Amino acid sequence: MSDTCIQQLSKRIFIKKDVIIIFSDDIVYELNIKLRELAAVSVFFTIDKYIQHGDTSCLWHSIAVAYYSLFLARLLHISCDKNSLLVGALLHDYFLYDWHVKEKSHKLHGFRHPKAALNNAERIKQLNTIETDIIIKHMFPLTPVPPIYKESMVVCLVDKFCSLHETFHKDTYNSLKRKIDI
Ligand SMILES: [Fe+2]
Ligand SMILES: [Fe+2]
Repeated sequence: MSDTCIQQLSKRIFIKKDVIIIFSDDIVYELNIKLRELAAVSVFFTIDKYIQHGDTSCLWHSIAVAYYSLFLARLLHISCDKNSLLVGALLHDYFLYDWHVKEKSHKLHGFRHPKAALNNAERIKQLNTIETDIIIKHMFPLTPVPPIYKESMVVCLVDKFCSLHETFHKDTYNSLKRKIDI
């Protein structure tokens, strides 16, 4: 490969990297605002005490799902309601208990927790139809009714990837944790 080719290639990679960095910071900024809004009216950060998958808490699972949902939507140029996407994703697992603890009320957690999360989320704020759809349908296809909005489809998909990642990895989302103001 000639020097000119290498220079052009490295310039392209640099520009691409730069775009991704700007992209990420922009999403982190939006996410930090939304987290502050939620924390002001709820006990949202207390979900950090509940483990979701592996050693990842419900808090960091929810933040990661929100971050990567908006990232994916922007990457694929899916026009979406950014606020509803973030609120729905952040509250999609706001069920407020440790589902690993064996209790009668935790039975069938996979099927029931979207409704529990929705009930808790509705105590924080009035949810619009997109936010409601994101929360109540995020376990599709385990729960049979599919999401109907682009935002809820994206969150449903990203939730699966984040859950798998957390199940098979320890110390997840370290770079994201450094950027989030908690
Ligand atoms: Fe869930
Ligand atoms: Fe989830």
